[in-house]
Amino acid sequence: MNITTGALFGILVIFFYLLTILNYLVKLINRKYGKRMKSHEKGYRVYTGFMKFIIKKHRLFGAAALLFLIIHIIIQYNAYQYLSQTGAAAASVLLLQVILGIYGSKKGMGKTRKWLYYHRTVAVLLPVVIAVHVF
Ligand code: HEM
Ligand code: HEM
Repeated sequence: MNITTGALFGILVIFFYLLTILNYLVKLINRKYGKRMKSHEKGYRVYTGFMKFIIKKHRLFGAAALLFLIIHIIIQYNAYQYLSQTGAAAASVLLLQVILGIYGSKKGMGKTRKWLYYHRTVAVLLPVVIAVHVF
């Protein structure tokens, strides 16, 4: 396997990260523009279908990001023979995010949703550490 394959798996991690944060965005758009969108019944049905898909598959997308990260690490470590420090930082934050997600899934959406604030905060932090690694 060559180095570009390694980069590809890094890009896949970013792609699935983007799908996970859509979970927040689709709901936000629905909250803000849902009423207006409803006037186009057909279009709104398509939108809610998309929204439900994004919410339902959220955990799967998060797990996929982690899976591709593991592949990325294996390939890059073999290609470069060193453990990227910025990569390790980004990976730690992503791992923390997955753990928070699993914790939240077990805890549920009850009254004390402190975990969700952390989960959202880490979602914002993640692209920052990824950018440091990639650029
Ligand atoms: C969330 C975690 C990570 C993401 C999203 C990610 C993403 C990427 C991407 C997109 C590239 C290609 C950059 C380019 O070709 O310009 C890359 C390069 C690289 N990654 Fe990662 N990566 C992550 C974690 C890691 C980890 C934990 C390691 C440790 C082995 C690592 C090692 C590398 C290496 C060695 C390169 C190539 C050289 C460099 O840019 O430093 N990455 N990564
Ligand atoms: C890259 C990884 C991930 C990112 C960036 C991420 C991001 C987010 C964001 C931004 C929200 C807020 C959505 C809202 O405000 O309603 C959220 C909600 C949530 N996340 Fe994640 N997440 C990730 C992985 C996971 C994983 C792996 C799990 C569980 C296994 C998980 C479980 C949840 C749960 C249960 C919610 C509550 C709302 C809902 O179910 O839609 N997340 N996530």
